[in-house]
Amino acid sequence: MTTKTSTDSTLEMRKIDMLYRRDVIESRVQELGEQISKDYAETRPVLVGALKGCFVFMADLARAITIPLELEFISAASYRNGAQQDDTIAVGPAPMLPIKGRDILLVEGVVDSGRTAEAIVSRLKIDEPNSVEVVTLLHKTQSSNLSFPLKYVGFEIEDLFVVGYGLDYSQLYRNLNFIGHVSEFEK
Ligand code: IMP
Ligand code: MG
Repeated sequence: MTTKTSTDSTLEMRKIDMLYRRDVIESRVQELGEQISKDYAETRPVLVGALKGCFVFMADLARAITIPLELEFISAASYRNGAQQDDTIAVGPAPMLPIKGRDILLVEGVVDSGRTAEAIVSRLKIDEPNSVEVVTLLHKTQSSNLSFPLKYVGFEIEDLFVVGYGLDYSQLYRNLNFIGHVSEFEK
């Protein structure tokens, strides 16, 4: 994927390059919503958003879906575990909505290694839903080694660190209305 440098001088100062413009994201989200509306027409799915990165995508995706649905959120955070190489992923409190027997669609902003999504899916499965599938706006094709399928992917991207449309770098840039690549940092 070739990146186009933003002409906005403020953004250039922060070295964020345009990756997906707002209108491009909106039309892809619309397509995802239409597909999900068809696939889940016979059920009433529960969209479970993975905080915080999902929040913009979740709001747009939910409005692009035309069938009845319910919404829930769950949080997951990874932290370094002493001298161990791997991060530990802590999944937040269980969803408030009872999900036993329900069809769950986990909504992620970005799936990189997939460990976060996997931890949340495992947690949700404890409550015996009928099905759990994943929809992610972005999937980093090169870096992921997924042990479960992603049912819906907005965009496949290379191994870049991206921000905006809900995604952060050190809690900043979630409010950018496009997806940008932070070019000054090595991931
Ligand atoms: P995982 O490697 O798929 O478990 O991704 C871990 C988490 O890191 C994701 O849920 C995001 O919160 C965050 N993350 C991964 N890649 C990016 C990125 O490019 N930008 C912003 N956050 C990211
Ligand atoms: Mg983050």
